[in-house]
Amino acid sequence: MEIVIRESHQSAVNLTADIIANALRKRPDVVLGLATGRTMEALYAELARRHREEGLDFSKATTFNLDEYIGLPPEDPNSYRYYMKTHLFDRVNINPDRTHLPDGMAKNIEAECALYEQRIKSAGGIDLQLLGIGRSGHIGFNEPLSALFSRTRPKALAPWTIQQNAPLFPDPSLMPRRAITMGVGTILEAGRCLMLATGDEKAEVVAKSAEGPMTAMLSATALQLHPQCTVIVDEEAGARLTNREYYDWVFENEPEWEPYR
Ligand code: F6R
Repeated sequence: MEIVIRESHQSAVNLTADIIANALRKRPDVVLGLATGRTMEALYAELARRHREEGLDFSKATTFNLDEYIGLPPEDPNSYRYYMKTHLFDRVNINPDRTHLPDGMAKNIEAECALYEQRIKSAGGIDLQLLGIGRSGHIGFNEPLSALFSRTRPKALAPWTIQQNAPLFPDPSLMPRRAITMGVGTILEAGRCLMLATGDEKAEVVAKSAEGPMTAMLSATALQLHPQCTVIVDEEAGARLTNREYYDWVFENEPEWEPYR
């Protein structure tokens, strides 16, 4: 794992966008794993800007989102399909047929989960998986005690996740209690994992995930197993990291980061 601490929210977003843009330039038919949530809004705005102003090309890319609420149709403004359409898909030149999210309305949820895994496999696997982190340490909706080898499956949302996301619903009581999420094992199979965390409310969980012992109680700790995982934080989200000087040293010395120093 590498941890990169940027001086501001926007520079953390920009560096994350740079890595995604480089992946798209290197391999236009890259398979991207995508996340939703408040953190990603600024990132998708930046990617949309680069498409508009710099011609960043999404036309051959394929995407798989981490998760979707069970019981929300794609046209529901709180569904993750709707979120992706408004924040990214409608703002870049991606082919909608190559964008994938689990179907939260599927009659047979178990079969939908198996099919989603199959689709990822048929696409050749995920090259670059973007991740946010919940205050409880979840990645995707892998709530505490999610098996570190888990696959795409339906998952009951934890009370604190419901508390975190319910204010986004016009009537908080309408927030679904379950979601389909890629498993921790599914995420760990991506070629590269890229986590973006910003703001002081993430400081504690970022420190525990990167520096704490690995535990199913905090699914983000499983990223310590991944051979190529980059965690990008702003000063606020990085504030509780104890080995900060070491992470800065790596950043100063790894050739990959030279253009950003
Ligand atoms: C959603 C997802 C979640 C979020 C996490 C952080 O697709 O993967 O793990 O990344 O809940 O959400 P925000 O950014 O709203 O704090």
